[in-house]
Amino acid sequence: MQSVETLNQQTPVDGWDRQDPEEAFTLPSRYFFDETLFKAERDNIFMRAWHVAGHKSEFAEPGQYVVCDLFDQSIVVAKNMQGQIHAFHNVCQHRGNRLLEQRRGTTGGVVRCAYHSWCYEMDGSLRSAPRCERMKNFEPQQFNIPKVRIEELGGFIYFNLDPRAPSLAELFPGADEEMHRVFPDMGKMRLIEEQDVIVPANWKVIMDNSIEGYHFKLSGPCHIDLAKLIDFKGYQLTKRDNWWTYIAPANLEAETAYGVGLKGERNPQECFFNIGLWPNNTFYTFPFSEFLGTFMMIPLDAERSLLRFGYYTANDQTAEVSKACMQWMNEDLGPEDIALNISVQKGLHSLGYDQGRYMIDAQRSNESEHLVHHFHRLVFQGIHGQSAS
Ligand code: FES
Ligand SMILES: [Fe+2]
Repeated sequence: MQSVETLNQQTPVDGWDRQDPEEAFTLPSRYFFDETLFKAERDNIFMRAWHVAGHKSEFAEPGQYVVCDLFDQSIVVAKNMQGQIHAFHNVCQHRGNRLLEQRRGTTGGVVRCAYHSWCYEMDGSLRSAPRCERMKNFEPQQFNIPKVRIEELGGFIYFNLDPRAPSLAELFPGADEEMHRVFPDMGKMRLIEEQDVIVPANWKVIMDNSIEGYHFKLSGPCHIDLAKLIDFKGYQLTKRDNWWTYIAPANLEAETAYGVGLKGERNPQECFFNIGLWPNNTFYTFPFSEFLGTFMMIPLDAERSLLRFGYYTANDQTAEVSKACMQWMNEDLGPEDIALNISVQKGLHSLGYDQGRYMIDAQRSNESEHLVHHFHRLVFQGIHGQSAS
């Protein structure tokens, strides 16, 4: 019999992705803390994936920029003075100084390096370098900052560090339509608020928690409150190749939500909705709130993640119930899930645990964990490639 001491190191993974989902054992626990596996995720998954930089309204004015960090990389996404959005590496081409430290800002049309004042246009091209006229064979265009690929989907701008990555349209066919069905005003949104929280848990622990409904009625009090706002019978979790959704109608009988009384007619389209685009981009809304939430699980290292909560609306004013919902997400539901994620991360190190079972039923019901399994298969195949059948 296998000894407990060696369990974590020995579970064979060959063919893990060929298990029948209904009988499948979960990803071995080392996938959630092993440094080598994490480096493989970094190189094979994140460095080749599309990441949300922001909504296009965050680049409405010439000179407006957003800085996006991914591991040791830093990218500037900005609108130039000609009105086009570009992305470029956040690094001076003289001696490598990082250019912009702030997450967001607006320049007068130029990024100036704080070291020797090389100046760049908002598309990364070099405008001026002090004393360069005295230099032999100095060609400014040789020192334009390398560009980063960007694309737009549903009004949001994404960047990708891999020039060979398939496009958003190839990777996520139908996702744009699905988002517009739930958020018809997606193109007109603006950012209301952004909150960053660093959580001592692997990024997948956080993702797993966010893509199953099994824990809704079975964990903490905020989850039970949320379950009361949802028509749980209509809750459906659907997987596609590289994206997934879950959606449920709102419980139109509800009288209060997030501590606020619900007044007036209920919109029959009210729903609980969540869409995930591989690997870590999530958009959602809660019943009776009219904001679009973004939820990005940005890995920092194998056991720490930056959770970035964004709130967007197309309305001029934020309704009271939406404000209450954002606060409830930041102060109640979010922390309740984060506490579970931290606790799971600790448990995964136990010598007494390696693999559990996905609770997947034949009907792929509202409490089935089939999206977690699907997501883990994408991770596994991202790291190792597809197992030969
Ligand atoms: S490092 Fe930027 S100008 Fe010298
Ligand atoms: Fe949760």
